[in-house]
Amino acid sequence: MRPTREISKAAAGTGPYCRGVLDYDLEASHYDRTRGGADRARAAAGALLELVPPDAAVLVDVACGTGIVSELLAAPGRTVIGVDRSAGMLARAVPRVDAVVRGDATRLPVADGSVDAVTFMWLLHLLEAPVVEAAIGEAARVLRPGGVLATSVDKNSANIGADTDVGALLVAARREFGPAPADGFERVREVAGAAGLEFVATSGYVGHGQGRTPRMWARMVRQDFSWSRSAAPERIAELCRALEALPDQDVKRPDPVYKLAGFRRPGRAPLTTSP
Ligand SMILES: C[S@@+](CC[C@H](N)C(=O)[O-])C[C@H]1O[C@@H](n2cnc3c(N)ncnc32)[C@H](O)[C@@H]1O
Repeated sequence: MRPTREISKAAAGTGPYCRGVLDYDLEASHYDRTRGGADRARAAAGALLELVPPDAAVLVDVACGTGIVSELLAAPGRTVIGVDRSAGMLARAVPRVDAVVRGDATRLPVADGSVDAVTFMWLLHLLEAPVVEAAIGEAARVLRPGGVLATSVDKNSANIGADTDVGALLVAARREFGPAPADGFERVREVAGAAGLEFVATSGYVGHGQGRTPRMWARMVRQDFSWSRSAAPERIAELCRALEALPDQDVKRPDPVYKLAGFRRPGRAPLTTSP
């Protein structure tokens, strides 16, 4: 059997959580290098910080992974707490953040109304729709009034570079074969609203080093995507032939532009009272 970078749902204990999600314990050793490294992390953190209140004293970075982005969310007077399900990823985050906790986005080990900001960078696209709702509901629970959730949205749509020749083929294929993205901006906005969070703003950043060649995309379609595995093999072969017929096979297409959205829990933080 061909080795796979994905883990079975049963083995991962993921139940309905994931859409053919990678085994992040196995990804940990090469994650930073293969996801744009320090340049991507700097750009991603910058886009998150455009949405996070500058005076946020307690920030929980959910799905912090290796902490490569979380460490850049630090600020004087701020405590950054990283939460992730993967022990392998978290082990790398330990030296990078103030505290790490192994936990799930849908059951944060944090008291109600106790944090100023929650961040999800590249989490929601991994989750099934009901889990997206649970994770956003959980963020709303732990945010204090006035606190902000900043999250990536539309991740895979950006990734496939909708405005390129490759993107045109992949967008159509995703629409035909894949489920609707669980992290679509409008959907996330609707879910956040239902959880009592109001939309504040969007931000974005360039995914440095994330542009791929048509040949790379054809290889990924054959190997990496759950939607391409469940589609009819002849349709996937046709898609790969179309990708391999594009000009400039080994020229990377432009780096994707990733989008984020910020949502605020209405109300003011209660005044601290002296005992
Ligand atoms: C693509 S990585 C993103 C890591 C980091 N935020 C970054 O931008 O570099 C996705 C991370 O989400 C974590 N993850 C996936 N599902 C999760 C869940 N339900 N609760 C907590 N973490 C989760 C994975 O273990 C992995 O570390």
